Amino acid sequence: LPDPDVAALTGDDVADLLPKPAPESDKYRRGVIGIAAGSDTFAGAAVLAAGGAVRAGAGMVRFASFEEPVRLVRARWPEAVTTVLTPGAERPLDDVGRVQAWVVGPGLGTGREAHAIVREILATDLPVLVDADGLTHVAADRSLLRRSGPTLLTPHAGELARLLDVPRERIEARRIEHARRAAAELGATVLLKGSTTLVAEEDRPVRVNSTGTPWLATGGTGDVLSGIAGALLAGGLNCYDAASCAAYLHGLAARIAAAGPDRAAGGSGPGDSGPGGEAPIAA
Ligand code: APR
Ligand code: MG
Repeated sequence: LPDPDVAALTGDDVADLLPKPAPESDKYRRGVIGIAAGSDTFAGAAVLAAGGAVRAGAGMVRFASFEEPVRLVRARWPEAVTTVLTPGAERPLDDVGRVQAWVVGPGLGTGREAHAIVREILATDLPVLVDADGLTHVAADRSLLRRSGPTLLTPHAGELARLLDVPRERIEARRIEHARRAAAELGATVLLKGSTTLVAEEDRPVRVNSTGTPWLATGGTGDVLSGIAGALLAGGLNCYDAASCAAYLHGLAARIAAAGPDRAAGGSGPGDSGPGGEAPIAA
């Protein structure tokens, strides 16, 4: 029997849920996403997260970070509005301008300044997606998650292991159970990455996404997913729908990329097993 507490999202569901520009839309109504990502050591994560948001149709991307990631984001995504954060400033985000949701963490680093940025973003009542180094700060101080706005955490199994203080192998052996437990214990929506992606939220069925392909198993794809989900959050989807639609689109985009332009444009479609021999989407 199918488990009523587990659900899959179809392409039709995603098409219905996705925010689409209306004739009277402007960039603010489509959603302004704030992204705080990258550091002088890991600047590339910023470019990938910002690119995910731009390509997922954010009305505007406001990007705030240290000097080097800001330089790279400006060069790659001229449509992003960027702010270099002043180290040591009491309220590092005051100069950024209004946003409707935040993505914080990819490549941001684990130092003091990064911590202050994570703290200030989580102190807002806006929807916040926390990924990568952002999750390290949250694992070290779970009180950061006591907040008024909705929170979406996007760990892989190793990151969830640190958040729950449970060995990674235990999580990998029982992924659905741990995703649920994390959502309940941390009071957040949890997107657990891996060969399938799970989205858990209290009192909702766990959504399982299988559109991905093992071609996604490469450093940086998680950062892109953060940007996609952030754009959908800023566009008005709740954490549960933003996370599940983002996982669906991210996986599908990877399949299309893996199939190559000819097959993607032709009739065979991304549901066929691609070069990795992955399972069909419907499986
Ligand atoms: N099949 C389908 N999808 C996969 C597979 C697979 N076999 N393997 C990975 N993915 C997808 C995941 O579901 C996720 O969307 O690829 C993405 C990988 O995201 P992350 O795990 O966050 O990886 P990323 O951040 O891009 O890479 C850098 O390496 O050392 C670690 O913790 C460090 O987060 C850092 C990561
Ligand atoms: Mg990651």
